[in-house]
Amino acid sequence: MKISLTLFYFSNKPHHAIVNDSVEASKKLKKEKLVNGVLRNIIRDKREIKYGKYIYPSFKKILDKIFSSKSISDYIYESLFVKPKNYQISLFDRNDALYGKRVYKLEKKIFKECFVQDIGNFEVIKSVYKFFIDKNIIDVCAAPGGKSILLSSLGFNVFAIDKSQRQIDKLKENLKRLNISLNIKKIDFLIHKFSKKYNSILLDAPCSALGTFRRNPDVTVKIDQSIIKKHQKTQLKMLEKSIELLNKQGFLAYVVCSFHPFETIDVIDKVIQKHKNIKIHNIHSDKMIKRQNGYFINPLKFKDMGGSDIFFVSVLEKI
Ligand SMILES: C[S@@+](CC[C@H](N)C(=O)[O-])C[C@H]1O[C@@H](n2cnc3c(N)ncnc32)[C@H](O)[C@@H]1O
Repeated sequence: MKISLTLFYFSNKPHHAIVNDSVEASKKLKKEKLVNGVLRNIIRDKREIKYGKYIYPSFKKILDKIFSSKSISDYIYESLFVKPKNYQISLFDRNDALYGKRVYKLEKKIFKECFVQDIGNFEVIKSVYKFFIDKNIIDVCAAPGGKSILLSSLGFNVFAIDKSQRQIDKLKENLKRLNISLNIKKIDFLIHKFSKKYNSILLDAPCSALGTFRRNPDVTVKIDQSIIKKHQKTQLKMLEKSIELLNKQGFLAYVVCSFHPFETIDVIDKVIQKHKNIKIHNIHSDKMIKRQNGYFINPLKFKDMGGSDIFFVSVLEKI
């Protein structure tokens, strides 16, 4: 019910689809009639019902832990109830761009030679790409391709892998429109046996997506420790495999669109406790805040541009 209400008021998802999903989910609890009735009544009286700017305690607790500065957390709570601005990134540097010579607002249509991406995503690659001295990079969770495309536009030769055909299809569609070709393979990174090692690896791991709360307001109520622990398990396995695949003196960037400590600080902590040959590097970005083991995008730094999603990034070197 909480997820449905959040979606009614803060998402573009059609009301009937929200009700259907809720009714489906409540069948397990044999509460489908109740849920159906209550939600339909709410839709009927939606204009009369005020949705208070209520911030869920579990969401707040986690955010306050990472963003201890009041000005940042206040801004995040404000932006929680505002639809995000969308951006498009140019494949080439352009002098009339809003930010970083590449970023434009996405108005009605996507410009030729541009692709849609959150500005935080752009900042992540902008701040880490210089670590990758070897321009042959493997992006092990690449689809739908936001980061691979950006890396390619920065002169990288990207080997893009992903285990999901549906996601790869989206990546191919993006590449076709942009007239770019990348080496793409449908591979389960955790199972595949690689025949060589790499000096440059990007691991944009699957996660809870808590940092995308402006686009997916339901994540604010879906926080569930057991699901996040499951993500952490996968992230650890992927990090282990990435370290195995990395040459000595090679660089690995670990990225997630989450600010939950389990998926960010703690994951890296476990890795460096276990692998004494892994060194964490400092990132130079005035749009991020440094925390133990890595950096979080600071959305307040993008206030003039309507904020950003929150990403965590850590750059590791195998020494
Ligand atoms: C956060 S998304 C990647 C977003 C992408 N890097 C971008 O910037 O557009 C995570 C991706 O990891 C893929 N994935 C999950 N488990 C995987 C695995 N075992 N092997 C390869 N890809 C996997 C998912 O299919 C999903 O496309």
